[in-house]
Amino acid sequence: MARVTFIHPEGKSGDVAKEVTLLEAAEALGFLLDHDCGGNASCSTCRVDVLCGGENLSDIDFEEQDLLDREALTEPYHRLSCQARVLGDVIVQVPEQKRESTKVGDKDTVSRPQEQTSQVE
Ligand code: FES
Repeated sequence: MARVTFIHPEGKSGDVAKEVTLLEAAEALGFLLDHDCGGNASCSTCRVDVLCGGENLSDIDFEEQDLLDREALTEPYHRLSCQARVLGDVIVQVPEQKRESTKVGDKDTVSRPQEQTSQVE
């Protein structure tokens, strides 16, 4: 298991199985990230910004890097949540422009990290 935290309007954090994608982790924690192409590395709507623990994500493969380059998402913290697999603890942020389109669930297993609520706008 690995601890995944999404800095999000609600602040979602919880343990997920290793090797799931960040997109799958979000769903397990009770909300959906946009994923217009269905997780095929062709739309970039699932993009997140990695704040901490980037070394605990799978390496960027050719398809992910190609799309990030085409979308001018060239900072090292840019990742496609449908491609990045969780290998250990990580903290990511849903970009501001994407927050309005995510849907927050209310799963009982999800906790709101107290230490991060001050960072959420
Ligand atoms: Fe389209 Fe990730 S869902 S690139």
